[in-house]
Amino acid sequence: MPESASVSKTQPINLAQKAALIEQQWSPRVVAEMNDYQFKVVRIEGEFIWHAHPETDEAFLVLEGTLRIDLPGRSVHVGAGELYVVPRGIEHRTAAQGEAKLMMIEPRGILNTGHEGGARTADSDVWI
Ligand code: NI
Repeated sequence: MPESASVSKTQPINLAQKAALIEQQWSPRVVAEMNDYQFKVVRIEGEFIWHAHPETDEAFLVLEGTLRIDLPGRSVHVGAGELYVVPRGIEHRTAAQGEAKLMMIEPRGILNTGHEGGARTADSDVWI
């Protein structure tokens, strides 16, 4: 049976190890792709900016710490091992008291600041 080179080299991805390699907070790094979706790991602390993604939902899986997601009129707290999906077009702001480590799942090319732009915009599609 033919086996492609890429498959034979594939190894499991350790999310905690990937997170530990990231030098800067608020800098999402791609660890895997599935079809046109990317799995990104990020370390965050403090508050991000309000933004929305008109073209897509955005999923957050908390690896370590507690993520607060501010939404219109309320906040949700997402603990380690928990998942939250922000629906497309909904304004949101992520935050963490102390550091939190997250995995985000969203289509390739989505910017962390949505259409807000500005200084907090990280390069997208950077692998680690
Ligand atoms: Ni977002």
